[in-house]
Amino acid sequence: MCGIVGYIGHREAYPIILKGLQRLEYRGYDSAGIALYDGNNIKLSKTKGKVADLKERLENEITTTGNLGIGHTRWATHGIPNDVNSHPHYSNSGDLVIIHNGIIENYEAIKTELIKRGYTFNSDTDTEVLINLIEEVKKKQGVKLGKAVQIALNEVVGAYAIAVFDKNKPNEIVVAKLGSPLAIGVGDEEFFIASDASPFIEFTKNAIYLEDEEMAVVRLGKKIKIRKIKDDSLVNPLMQELKFNLEQIEKGGYEHFMLKEIYEQPHAIRDTYRGRLLAKEGIVRMSGVENHKEKFLNANRIIIVACGTSWHAGLVAEYIFEDIARIPVEVEYASEFRYRNPVITNKDVVIAISQSGETADTLAAIKLAKSHGAFVFGVCNVVGSSIARETDAGAYTHAGPEIGVASTKAFTTQITVLTLIALKLAKEKGAISNSQFHYHLEELELIPEKVEKALKSDEHIKSVAKTYKDAANCLYLGRGYNFPVALEGALKLKEISYIHAEGYPAAEMKHGPIALIDEHMPVFVIATKKGHYEKVVSNIQEIKSRKGKIIAIVTEGDVDVKKLADHTIEIPETIESLSPLLTTIPLQLLSYHIAVMLNKNVDQPRNLAKSVTVE
Ligand code: M6R
Repeated sequence: MCGIVGYIGHREAYPIILKGLQRLEYRGYDSAGIALYDGNNIKLSKTKGKVADLKERLENEITTTGNLGIGHTRWATHGIPNDVNSHPHYSNSGDLVIIHNGIIENYEAIKTELIKRGYTFNSDTDTEVLINLIEEVKKKQGVKLGKAVQIALNEVVGAYAIAVFDKNKPNEIVVAKLGSPLAIGVGDEEFFIASDASPFIEFTKNAIYLEDEEMAVVRLGKKIKIRKIKDDSLVNPLMQELKFNLEQIEKGGYEHFMLKEIYEQPHAIRDTYRGRLLAKEGIVRMSGVENHKEKFLNANRIIIVACGTSWHAGLVAEYIFEDIARIPVEVEYASEFRYRNPVITNKDVVIAISQSGETADTLAAIKLAKSHGAFVFGVCNVVGSSIARETDAGAYTHAGPEIGVASTKAFTTQITVLTLIALKLAKEKGAISNSQFHYHLEELELIPEKVEKALKSDEHIKSVAKTYKDAANCLYLGRGYNFPVALEGALKLKEISYIHAEGYPAAEMKHGPIALIDEHMPVFVIATKKGHYEKVVSNIQEIKSRKGKIIAIVTEGDVDVKKLADHTIEIPETIESLSPLLTTIPLQLLSYHIAVMLNKNVDQPRNLAKSVTVE
C-alpha cells in the first residue's frame, strides 16, 4: 500500500517523479524517497515524512538532474517509518535500486540465506531483501537484469509492484506486478511507471496496465514486451486510452480534496446514472446486468462483499434489493468472508464494491467466490483496476478520481449504481409496479439537484461543527435505510478528526449505548419524515430525557423534531430508499469542518491510506 513512480525518457525525471508522488500520497504518506540516475551515478535521497518533507531535504542533498529515476511514497508494513526503511533501496553493490509496493511474505528465509552468502542489510524491510536476491541471481547466473528479476520473483511469495534499474544499464527500467497495481504510460520516446495513471496524465493518454504475474522491461527505443513471470511466455500489451484529465485530479480552488469531492457529488451522481437512467422512457440500461440477467434473476441470494465505506454502501443496497427487488441479500466484510469458510454455491451472485478496485481483502473475497462457482459482479470507481478486471461483469460508478482518503462521492455513487441495479432487477422480476418503478426513476433523477440544495446548508453545518468540535465521543443513530448512514457518519468523523464515534440502529440504543448518554454526549440522529419517523422521534425523546445533545438531520419543513433537538439540519424530501443519498451530505460536511477546526490533516489522516492493498 504504497505509491510508486518511475520515468525514463528525454525530460528531467525529478519534477515528474516528485509531482507524481504527491498525487500518489493517497496510497501512503509515512515516508518518501527518490533515486535519480544523473548520467554517471545514482543519486538517492529518502526520508521519514511526506513528499513535501522529501522535497525540502532532497534539493539540499543531491543534484536533481537526470532522465531516469524512480520514487516511492510509503505506508509501512515491514519496518517502522524511518529514513532507513524508506524506499528506494540499493542492492549491496550499489548498482541496483528498487521501489516496491506490497509485501514479500517469505523474506525472512531469503534474508537468512543471503546473510550466509555475505549480504548485509541496512533496513528492516522485505524490499531490501528482494533487491539483494535479484543481485545475487544476476551475479550467480550471469543473466541480464530482466531475467534476474524474473528468476528472483519466482522464488518469492507475496505481493508486489516493483520498478528496478541498474546504473550500468541506464536505458531501461524493469517492472513487475502481482497483487499491487502497476501502470505504464507510453509517450513519444519516453515511459512513465506508476501505481495509477495520475502521475503521467498530462504527458500521455496511453497506458498499459500490467496484469498479475506479468513483468516488462521498459527500454528506450524499444516497444514494450510483456512476459509472464512464471513461464516467460509473451503477452500482447493492451494499450488503453485514459479518459480523465489533469483538472479532475487537482483541488480546483478547494482547500482540501475531501471538500472538493463532497461538492462534486451532484455532478458525480449525474455521471453515474447518465445513459443508464432513462426516466421518461421508463428504462434502466446497464449492460453488465443485462448480459447476465439470468444469473441475477435465478440467484438464490446476493452476497455483497466490501470494506469500510463501500461496505456501508453494501448495507444500503441490502435494504433496497430486499425491499424493492425481493432478492435475499447478505452483506459481508470482505476480510471476514475470505477466511471464514463461507457456504458459496454457483447459484449465488456476489457483488464486490470498491472505490479503488484494489482493496486486497475484497480481491481475495472475489477469488474465493469465483473458486466456488459464484458469478461475481464488481461495482468499482477506478477503471481498469484489479477488481474491475477480476470480476465476471460489473458497473463503474464514474465518480471521477477520489483523492481524499475519506470516501465521500464514492459512497453516494456506489449507492446510485446499486439502486439502478435493484430497480432493473425489480422490473425484470415484476416485483415492483409500473407506477412505483417510474416514480423511483423520476425521484432518482432529481437527486443531484437535491444534493446541491443540501450543500447549501454548509455554513449552518459549520456553526454546528464549531459547537461539537471538542467532543470526546459521539453517537450516530439512524433506522432502516439510514442505519448504514449512521455507521458511515461515525466512520467519517473517526477517520479524519480522531474523535471516537459509534453508529447504531436508533432502536438498539436502549440495549446498551444509552448508558453513555449524558449532557456531554452529542448524538447525531437521522430523523427524516419517510422512514420510521415516529419511532425515531421516540428515540430522540429518550436521549433528551438523559440530557444528551441532539443534532438531527430532518426533512425540510419538519416541526416535531425541531422542538426537541438542540440543532437541526434540513435536507430536501425524497423517497425513503433514496434518502441515504441526501442524509449523508450533512454528516460528511460536519466531519470535514470538525477535522479542519481541529487542525487535522483532512486528506491524509494518520495511519490511513486510500487503497488498502495489504491484508
Ligand atoms: O477502495 P475501497 O472502496 O475498496 O476501500 C474500502 C475502504 O478502505 C474505504 O472505504 C475506507 O474505509 C475509507 N477510508 C472510508 O472513508
